[in-house]
This record gives sequence, structure tokens and C-alpha cells, in this order.
Amino acid sequence: MEIIVTTRTGERVTIAPNGATTFLEVIREAGIDELLALCGGCCSCATSHVHVEEAFLDRLPPIGSDEDDLLDSSEQRCAGSRLSCQVPISDTLDGVSVTIAPED
Ligand code: FES
Repeated sequence: MEIIVTTRTGERVTIAPNGATTFLEVIREAGIDELLALCGGCCSCATSHVHVEEAFLDRLPPIGSDEDDLLDSSEQRCAGSRLSCQVPISDTLDGVSVTIAPED
């Protein structure tokens, strides 16, 4: 099980989740500190924004209305936008590529 993360500086890092339960945890446990995640994963900020590879979008749980509203406040929203704290890791995501969204 691997997740490929692209940082804001364009570095690509391949990460094994190792027990992490969300994209946010995976990214943080890999030592990438670009996501402020100010609310601690409570879905009340938009500072855990990532862009998920489009081919994997239908394997993610549907976007919640709070998450959707928060993402609407971002100028960096695109089709693959999700809040990384709201996306659980599952085996169906093996090989997915996730890019940390530029700062708003
Ligand atoms: S950390 Fe605040 S919404 Fe994800």
C-alpha cells in the first residue's frame, strides 16, 4: 500500500500509511508540514486541502456538505479537491497520487 504525495515545491514522496487513518495523517507522519490543519481535523477550516488524482475520485467516500462548503471558500478548488482530514485510507487507494493544494 503506497500513496504518492507531491508537495508544494514539486517534490514527490512515496509513503506507506503505517496505520495512519486519513490522508492528513499519512502526510504528516511522513514529515511533510505544509498542511496547517488548523482545526485538527474537525472539518471547520480549509487548511488541509489536497488535490486527489482524478482516476481515484470515485473510490473516495462522497464529499460531505461541510467539506463542500469549506472547499468553496478556496480559490484553489478543482475537480479533485478534498480536505485530507476527511478522507479515510483504504486499500482501494493503493497507488493514488495526492498533491498538496497551493496556499490560498
Ligand atoms: S484540518 Fe481543518 S478541515 Fe481539515
